Amino acid sequence: MTESYLLAIIYLIGSITFIMGLKMLSHPETARKGNLIAAGGMTIAIFGTIFLDSSIGNYLWIFGGLVIGTIIGTLAAKKVKMTAMPQMVSLFNGMGGACAAIISIVEYQRHHFLMSGGAGHVAIIMAGLIIGAVSFSGSMIAFGKLNGNIGDKAFPGQKFINALIILGAFALGAMLSLAHESNVMMLYVVLAIALFYGVMFVLPIGGADMPVVISLLNSFTGVAAAFAGFVYNNQVMLTGGILVGSAGTILTILMCKAMNRSLFNVIAGSFGGGATGGTTSEKGTVKEISVNDAAVLLAYSKKVFIVPGYGLAVAQAQHVCHELEKLLEEKGVEVKYAIHPVAGRMPGHMNVLLAEADVPYEKLLEMEDANGEMPNTDVSIIIGANDVVNPAARHDQASPIYGMPILDVDKSANVIVMKRSMAAGYAGIDNELFYYPNNRMLFGDAKSSLQKLVTEVKAL
Ligand code: TAP
Repeated sequence: MTESYLLAIIYLIGSITFIMGLKMLSHPETARKGNLIAAGGMTIAIFGTIFLDSSIGNYLWIFGGLVIGTIIGTLAAKKVKMTAMPQMVSLFNGMGGACAAIISIVEYQRHHFLMSGGAGHVAIIMAGLIIGAVSFSGSMIAFGKLNGNIGDKAFPGQKFINALIILGAFALGAMLSLAHESNVMMLYVVLAIALFYGVMFVLPIGGADMPVVISLLNSFTGVAAAFAGFVYNNQVMLTGGILVGSAGTILTILMCKAMNRSLFNVIAGSFGGGATGGTTSEKGTVKEISVNDAAVLLAYSKKVFIVPGYGLAVAQAQHVCHELEKLLEEKGVEVKYAIHPVAGRMPGHMNVLLAEADVPYEKLLEMEDANGEMPNTDVSIIIGANDVVNPAARHDQASPIYGMPILDVDKSANVIVMKRSMAAGYAGIDNELFYYPNNRMLFGDAKSSLQKLVTEVKAL
């Protein structure tokens, strides 16, 4: 009895740490600590369950799994590159979905022997099974897409067929819930249909929308875990699942807003899947700038905006970028960073990257604030960003990114774009900014170009 009270208190502590952790994750300065606090709460909850729940045995299997999982997780997290982070999130998320589905499979068969609960109990098991399985197979496809192994695949009527597939899975799940006899064969049929749906759901979605899809699948995993919490009557699992589910949903909505697109448009469209849209008829000429001229322009400016993008992460140029910023500040230039909410390949990508290089958080301006200051800016220097500064989004209705809020760098007096070539960004479209009269290109890898710039500015 004392043990069950102790366990309830442990679950309460676990739930509180999740909420605290989530709150702290909303600011880069407290995020690391928040993550550790929530992980600590999770550890306490896991060990509390193992040692205080009298129904648990099989210690060898449990600890074997824990040790193997810990080793794989630690190695993967240490090895992963910042640019491959979304892939890893997708993989980890898929594992969560798979766990929820496996729990449902085991519990359905146990339920039959125990003859406990009723239709409601089986319905919860079915919901956990279907949502968990969709999250697992969908995440695996998302992983393949982000990794460049799988392309977009769509065919006419796909949405209608997809709707039939998922309805079929839920209809069979409902039948199993209402049936008086257990039917394990049918359970596996439901599992197979749900897995198939996950694949069909993610396949047509465009590559650039994968972070949104992962966040959506993440919320599915949360919901599936919450169902598992219901099945076990386990409060901490329920709280954790609900928090993941709601956080994933909020993040999905925020990302859609940042791209000015509805969730339906994301799911239906093929954005970033090799689109070529956008009018490029009156292109004009592209002007280049030498490192030396760029250094002079920057050093003698009053106000400079640095706009980081995916290319900065690829080149791992965040440290040298910070060095340039400090050098310019020493020369009396006011330097700030303009952060687009979907710059990079995952939410907060640029914030994390710049925090890693110790860029003070106060220097990071969100899009609306930065745009207000653009007309008074001498130079905007774009480092490995492309789509998020494409003015076509403001006026070209034929462009796939039309309507997406962008950083109005073209409104500053001078623009310097640092990238390796004229190649397109993730949306696969030409950027008219490169042809603007106030824009000049500094071609080359972001890190080596920044290193050269630092040397030149130092010499001035
Ligand atoms: P992108 O539009 O993808 O452009 C990145 C640019 O970096 C490329 O044009 C590339 O040009 C350049 N680059 C790559 N490696 C480089 C290197 N080593 N040195 C210098 N430049 C390099 O990136 P963005 O502006 O950050 O936009 C993000 C895109 O992802 C948007 O389309 C956005 O909608 C989409 N998206 C993001 C999210 C989240 S949550 N972040 C979610 C959904 C969609 P070169 O090849 O010529 O160098």
